[in-house]
Amino acid sequence: MPSPLFPQRLAERNVPKQGARRTARAGLLREAGNPGLHAGGPNSLLAPRMRYHIWPDRPSIGSSSRMTSTGAPLADTRQRALRDLRVSVTDRCNFRCTYCMPKEIFGASYRFMPRAELLSFEEIVRVARLFIDAGVEKIRLTGGEPLIRRDIHELVAKLSTLSGLRDLTLTTNASLLTRSRARDLREAGLSRITVSLDALDDATFHAINDVGFPVSRVLKGIENAAAAGLNPIKINMVVKRGVNDHAVVPMARHFRGTGHILRFIEFMDVGSTNGWRLDDVISSAEIVSMLDEAFGLEALDPQYRGEVARRWRYRDGAGELGVISSVTSPFCGTCTRARLSAEGQVYTCLFATRGVDLRRLLREGASDEYIAGVIAAMWTRRDDRYSEIRSSATVSGPRIEMSYIGG
Ligand SMILES: C[S@@+](CC[C@H](N)C(=O)[O-])C[C@H]1O[C@@H](n2cnc3c(N)ncnc32)[C@H](O)[C@@H]1O
Ligand code: SF4
Repeated sequence: MPSPLFPQRLAERNVPKQGARRTARAGLLREAGNPGLHAGGPNSLLAPRMRYHIWPDRPSIGSSSRMTSTGAPLADTRQRALRDLRVSVTDRCNFRCTYCMPKEIFGASYRFMPRAELLSFEEIVRVARLFIDAGVEKIRLTGGEPLIRRDIHELVAKLSTLSGLRDLTLTTNASLLTRSRARDLREAGLSRITVSLDALDDATFHAINDVGFPVSRVLKGIENAAAAGLNPIKINMVVKRGVNDHAVVPMARHFRGTGHILRFIEFMDVGSTNGWRLDDVISSAEIVSMLDEAFGLEALDPQYRGEVARRWRYRDGAGELGVISSVTSPFCGTCTRARLSAEGQVYTCLFATRGVDLRRLLREGASDEYIAGVIAAMWTRRDDRYSEIRSSATVSGPRIEMSYIGG
């Protein structure tokens, strides 16, 4: 018997038979959204079996609840609560970071999602409200590059009024973070911001963003965010061996004492296009050792259970930094995140290969109660712990791209 969340009938509806695939493509894409490279679309690297889109016959938990019928908070099969929602607002980006959207794949012929496939702001807000009802306290807007959606501050304004939401933030490459946009975001209710920056020298940064974007303009974006009061600013740096590991100490030197919190992220095997190899990962332990030698560090206690970054402070009082050890020390055990793609698929893991199609429910007139039941059923069945069981078999399997699911 197929599970109500993964009914065979609907899975089959979205998986054309081998011979029919070419002619069925236009209809399939309209029906299933344009999963693109990520999940079986025209650019797909995934096998046809990955073209499943989930359409629940009937959610098994009846009504909207952040509580189960026994009164306990909504928890998955590993007793992890639902607390965070990452919302990808676009699969497009103006950078082509080699570890995320390599040019060879995301080039001129790549088909991004058509506008009509993206959730509208109203749809995002409705889903966010239902997730908050189910226990979510923190929302991060991401992408692709979220500032590509020019009126993103209007979404921020709508989300920031939702009661129960304690933290609303956004991750950006800051290339479009002008003074006025930073101010609009702040005024709309964004409390803080995370900016990605992988080096301070243009040669290295160009080699990574692959569109010749200068460091100075990202630094200007950070300055604009600070001036608008989007504090504290976190700076994410993905470290890849032989590419930008030489920039670790200069980045720390630049940002210590500024109040901005630099976070070093291990290069992850997200997606199937970035040519990930374990040998390219610089571990958090190596980074901490480099920085301890250069500046002197001491460990800080986590601020809350499940905090993803391990926190350190400079011994001389110049502030704190973080390391995110997604590869060498996975945090699946305390992961409380769901992810909403720009076309309305919900995933319970960064490494998931199947999502639940909420857009279809939204557009076919499902009630709040029904969608809330789907969310609860999805979460209570969640069993993901990819990073803990990462192996050569899982690494070589198909995965969704970071630019689709939202980093
Ligand atoms: C996918 S991006 C989306 C938001 C925005 N475009 C940006 O770059 O900040 C979110 C974060 O994911 C990180 N990221 C992307 N691919 C990654 C990978 N393979 N391993 C680790 N982090 C990655 C980026 O560096 C960025 O900090
Ligand atoms: S990491 Fe962000 S800026 Fe870089 S390509 Fe991916 S989505 Fe774009």
